[in-house]
Amino acid sequence: MSANNESWGSRVGLILAMAGNAVGLGNFLRFPVQAVQNGGGAFILPYLICFLLMGIPLLFVEWSLGRFGGKLGNHSTPYILDSVSKKPIWKYIGVFGIFTNIAVVAYYTYIESWTFIYVFHSIVGTFTGMGKDEISLFFDNYVGLTGSDLGIPLLPVLVYVLVMGLNVYILSSGLGGIEKVAKIGMPLLILFGLILAFRGWTMGADFATAEFPDANAWDGINFLWTPQYSSLADPKVWLAAAGQIFFTLSVGMGSIQCYASYVKANEDIALNSITAGFTNELVEIVLGSAIVIPIAAGFLGMDWVLENAGFGMAFQTMPYLFQQWGPAFSMIAGVCWFGLLFFAGITSSLAMGTPWMGFMQDEFGWSKVKGAVSFGIIALIMGLPTVLFYKYGYFDEYDYWGGTVSLVIFALLETILFAWVFGMEKGWEEITRGADIRVPSFYKWIMKYITPALLLLVLLGALFTPVGNDWTSALGSLMDGHGYELDASSLISKISNADLKAQLLSNPEDTELL
Ligand code: PHE
Ligand code: NA
Repeated sequence: MSANNESWGSRVGLILAMAGNAVGLGNFLRFPVQAVQNGGGAFILPYLICFLLMGIPLLFVEWSLGRFGGKLGNHSTPYILDSVSKKPIWKYIGVFGIFTNIAVVAYYTYIESWTFIYVFHSIVGTFTGMGKDEISLFFDNYVGLTGSDLGIPLLPVLVYVLVMGLNVYILSSGLGGIEKVAKIGMPLLILFGLILAFRGWTMGADFATAEFPDANAWDGINFLWTPQYSSLADPKVWLAAAGQIFFTLSVGMGSIQCYASYVKANEDIALNSITAGFTNELVEIVLGSAIVIPIAAGFLGMDWVLENAGFGMAFQTMPYLFQQWGPAFSMIAGVCWFGLLFFAGITSSLAMGTPWMGFMQDEFGWSKVKGAVSFGIIALIMGLPTVLFYKYGYFDEYDYWGGTVSLVIFALLETILFAWVFGMEKGWEEITRGADIRVPSFYKWIMKYITPALLLLVLLGALFTPVGNDWTSALGSLMDGHGYELDASSLISKISNADLKAQLLSNPEDTELL
């Protein structure tokens, strides 16, 4: 219990802040890549099912837990969970809900800092007149993929620290600052997204060239939206879909609970949580799939997209493609794209800072400034290795443990706490108290049985993912009694750094490099 009785300024502010929390880099960078890598239309069905059976229930659980804890003066998951069950174990489990945020925000803010500097480059026209390879190399140079082994990429570190500082500054002004950023950032983000999506959707085959005669933006849209039922039996696709749902909705991390702990005791959470969740899905499904993929397909063809889908598209390919639209619109497109990413990013990174601040305030009476500054310092300490050694691909490890496995574990435990320890009857009362909509009562049953069962399956699937994510042969070898073997070539294929990959492929014995 602390003297902290802050609350959100208005309902619009709360919804925009929560939507801003959810809508993030995941919608624009992670979703399209996941969708393409998992078969486009094949991905969408498992994705939507995961949203309905895990996403929505978890939103209910986290909003309810948050508001419940907040009423008792608790604003971070250790104390929020403690307010539900006095068994000390829950308090410790709650610690997850602070530290995964810091682990994720550390690398997340780094990417956010790229978008920040790329807005600047778009405005000053850095990319004007550069060729495709040059723009791509520009990014590699920036993040330190090229150059000497231990050279410190000074500029990116500086921009990273600056953007972290901006987060700290906003956080130190409390909920009011967060609300203000969301009120400005969210509408702009949507406007920018609509401009780009419109341009993408109306491209058609206008930009097919001799080099890419088959380029057609509609191929990208069709690829994403023609359902393919075959993949429904593929565990790999389901895992990817579940992982994306978790990440994109910000569930399993403690940040929604923290935001919800500032909701007044009898204020609606049912409609608010659904509104914020659906806003995220709308932005992800409509805008997230209408920009990078169709635009890249419109210029370079769908085959190119399938081969090159990845992180690089956003920073290496897009600035080049925008140029094909002529000097004036290329600047607008660049500002829209990187500006959109920046707003998406910052409204999410702010959300990841609040659980730590809430905890320090409740437990030690720390001021906002002290909480925000200490958060920034810890995040920087955790993030700097990723920044300095980006070329060695720590990113993926980080994303896997910090951004996937721990979320699922935490989500499973909090669902058990809510539906079984607290009890689904009391839980249902929490969800529906003050509700402005009627929640379909079959969700009670889903939350008690289906959601935890699915979470357990996802967890087991994630922990025992076969090497190279190759389920068919892994299941085969299990039956042969061989189990999993370390397979260097599939590990190598996961490496994103082209130089290192080439080096390893030419000399596969040199496994020390891994
Ligand atoms: N949901 C955010 C995104 O899609 C990421 C995030 C996760 C933000 C957890 C806050 C907490 O990018
Ligand atoms: Na999201």
